[in-house]
Amino acid sequence: MQIDPKNYPIAVLGTGTMGEGIAQTAATAGHPVMLYDVSQEQTRAALENIAKRLDRSTKKRKITAEKKDQIQANLSPKQSLKELAPAKLVIEAIIEDLEIKQNVFCQLESLLGADAILATNTSSIDLNKMGSTLKRPERLVGMHFFNPVPVMKLVEVIKGNETSEETTAATIALSEQMGKIPVTANDFAGFVSNRVLMPMINEAFHAWADGVAEPEAIDSIMKLGCAFPMGPLRLADYIGLDVCRDIMKVMYEGLDQNPKYLPSEKIVALVDAGHLGDKTGQGVYKHEKG
Ligand code: 3HC
Repeated sequence: MQIDPKNYPIAVLGTGTMGEGIAQTAATAGHPVMLYDVSQEQTRAALENIAKRLDRSTKKRKITAEKKDQIQANLSPKQSLKELAPAKLVIEAIIEDLEIKQNVFCQLESLLGADAILATNTSSIDLNKMGSTLKRPERLVGMHFFNPVPVMKLVEVIKGNETSEETTAATIALSEQMGKIPVTANDFAGFVSNRVLMPMINEAFHAWADGVAEPEAIDSIMKLGCAFPMGPLRLADYIGLDVCRDIMKVMYEGLDQNPKYLPSEKIVALVDAGHLGDKTGQGVYKHEKG
């Protein structure tokens, strides 16, 4: 499938960490990108963060000043869902709540062209349930990006029971066009990435709770011994401890309430105390802002 990015507008819904990274990646690949979030403040912050990163890349001579201007010109903030109507692909990266996602997708379905693709960046929610309220569930697909999106190569492409071959093929082509490597998986809670990653992170918390070692030692062992760029506890802070807890819960519910997917008490206690990781400045570790 040949894609001319200039004529393939993409809407990114939700401008938190993931939406921000997805928008930057799509704009860098040449797509006009519309950004929408219920909080306009959040969208402004996302655009500022992207501008700062592009500035850094220009100073490091990774991109030219002209390229930076082109990328920024491709990004346009929007104030309402209605303004996303020209999008041929919508990538949703909003709160991990099934009903809210269903509601937004139903509204989008009536606004967008009949062949527009509805992609969700959900990290674990059941795509079949998400599509159950749609008139055209064959256009719904999972497009699971990884943080930091401009750096991480993978897009985990999730096929729901109703996702058409045409939608899957277009999503694979679009991911490649955005400079990513798509790999497909079927619709099980946690898909492949979080099904494998999250129990490993959870086990690191159990090891800490059992006194096997302190967090720094656990992370050093996994970094130096298994060549991970970050140890599992550092990565949990980076992802967000609330996100890790929620993904474990979705897997617990979605995979026959198998107790091996229950979040560790350490994660739950840190989240309950408001220590969510990098974003709050405190998680397993203390973090300095920025
Ligand atoms: N956005 C854009 N670019 C970023 C970035 C960000 N948030 N953070 C770092 N980068 C870029 C830097 O600019 C730098 O680019 P350059 O080489 O062109 O100058 C490059 O990444 C390397 O950054 P640093 O030198 O600052 O730091 P590191 O070499 O330590 O790399 C890291 C940082 C890329 C975050 C690395 O530690 C890493 O790969 N960590 C693991 C990340 C991971 O596992 N992510 C997946 C999480 S799971 C997930 O997202 C799924 C969800 O469902 C939970």
